Amino acid sequence: MADKDIVRPEGAAEDWTIPQGWDRYSPAEHAMWDRLFDRQARMLPGRVAPEFLKGLDILRLSKPGIPDFDELSERLMKATGWQVVAVPGLVPDDVFFDHLANRRFVSGNFIRTPEQLDYLQEPDIFHDVFGHVPLLANPVFADYMQAYGQGGQRAAQHGAIDRLARLYWYTVEFGLINTVEGLRIYGAGIVSSYGESVFALDDASPNRIGFDLRRLMRTRYRIDDYQQSYFVIDSFEDLLDQTLRTDFAPIYSDLAGTADIAPEELLPDDQLHSRGTQAYALSKAETA
Ligand code: PHE
Ligand code: FE
Repeated sequence: MADKDIVRPEGAAEDWTIPQGWDRYSPAEHAMWDRLFDRQARMLPGRVAPEFLKGLDILRLSKPGIPDFDELSERLMKATGWQVVAVPGLVPDDVFFDHLANRRFVSGNFIRTPEQLDYLQEPDIFHDVFGHVPLLANPVFADYMQAYGQGGQRAAQHGAIDRLARLYWYTVEFGLINTVEGLRIYGAGIVSSYGESVFALDDASPNRIGFDLRRLMRTRYRIDDYQQSYFVIDSFEDLLDQTLRTDFAPIYSDLAGTADIAPEELLPDDQLHSRGTQAYALSKAETA
């Protein structure tokens, strides 16, 4: 994801890309990928959107070891015309949008340490590649991500980047999808997290609210812990319909001046899949 006040590190190209440096990963770093991969691969069937598992398959994303971006990009290019490029960490908004608009997904090239197994602040290669890249092999989701990049360039002109960032957060990072077999996870922030893969789907604590673009764009989110509300899309086609084929400019002006909605708050018009108890967030608040 993107960030504002950061300086381009020495050695990064003008578009902020760096070589992945695949040859420089240590055996311990490759082993960390395998450990994370195993744990998630065992947990995901029956929890994740089928399109995600299909993407793992198409891209032959697996063990052993950290994927080489050149090989990964070659397969991804064949599937949907996307590539994966390495960056040193978070990049400025305009750089991020430009890469997406050109079907390049930016990924960190470093992997978490054993101390960071379950929690780290900056997205590492496991989050970026395992979490995000499988769905880029899906043609509909691939179009959504490109359109998001183009939408970012427009949002910047309307001073509405924060609203559009909420859309990314509640879909690309923390989205749920409704299927005939029940709710499934697809957001990369959930899919790459052992704890949240269970929490988002099975825990009584969070709200699960039917996707509503305007409502979502007013909703603040948490960056420090599990989400208090998740938004549920009906299908990737439907998500594309409501975004790519919708002009956001009038929405941005309608929403200007409206009050934000708190992460746990429910509204009378919400289409609820489940009303959360917020027990988890409340217990955390007590001990804090
Ligand atoms: N249609 C949006 C706009 O008019 C752009 C967009 C598309 C944003 C897809 C997000 C996802 O700005
Ligand atoms: Fe991410």
